[in-house]
Amino acid sequence: MKLTNDQLRQFEEQGYLFFPSLFRPDEMKVLLDQLPDIYAQHRPEIVREKGSDAVRTVFAGHLINEAFAKLGRHPRMIEPVQALLGEQVYMHQFKINGKQAFDGDVWQWHQDYGTWKADDEMPEPRAMNIAVFLDDVNEFNGPLLFIPGSHRGGAIDAGHDVSTTSYPLWTLDNETVARLVANGGIVAPKGPAGSMLMFHSCLVHGSPSNMSPWNRNICYLSLCAVSNHIRRFHRPEYIAHRDFTPIAPLADDCLTNPAVRVTDLPLAKAA
Ligand code: SIN
Ligand code: MN
Repeated sequence: MKLTNDQLRQFEEQGYLFFPSLFRPDEMKVLLDQLPDIYAQHRPEIVREKGSDAVRTVFAGHLINEAFAKLGRHPRMIEPVQALLGEQVYMHQFKINGKQAFDGDVWQWHQDYGTWKADDEMPEPRAMNIAVFLDDVNEFNGPLLFIPGSHRGGAIDAGHDVSTTSYPLWTLDNETVARLVANGGIVAPKGPAGSMLMFHSCLVHGSPSNMSPWNRNICYLSLCAVSNHIRRFHRPEYIAHRDFTPIAPLADDCLTNPAVRVTDLPLAKAA
């Protein structure tokens, strides 16, 4: 998948690109079918919502499960990021965010690069987030909210919020968010399962809770330029990976072709 000049310009201005229905329903079904088995596991890589057994985040799903390992090497995700960053990429972080019906909690306003800089000493914001919707995302089930253009100011001072949700996050204060929204507004890209979002690591984003009866599972790849690898190994390896090997993309039909295998799953048996 090659990005057009218009898309490159839009990414530079807005800080994100949206590709509705980039993956087919049968490709997403392969992934969705894996979730009950993964979510039934209790292990450090799987964070539950505060006061509930609902899954908030599965870290390192690509090292636990073969279908997600394939997604982590999918050419529709890897190739455009390599082109944008002008370099091969490695997996800095991989997560499946559950945002389960009725239980999915808020993600406060934040920038991902703020955390990667403060906690992991990633030198520059030369890393990209890719989100694939495993379920339909609508206005009711906690869509991602973006502030367009908010990536242009680089990393913004943040405070460490360890109490609002079950997962500590470096979050932005209300005054900062209000100022950025006055400039860029807020968008909530919505679409069917299989849609993909690519967003800059300094783009300010968050998401409201899921009060609806519909799950909102989204899988995120955070891909970092190999030369920009993290310098500090402070967080658990399943949250901030230390394997800086460039990702070799698989064939385009990898999700549905059983002949394509990924057998190197170091966390598969640790449950
Ligand atoms: C994130 O920003 O890391 C997660 C946001 C979400 O899944 O809603
Ligand atoms: Mn984030």
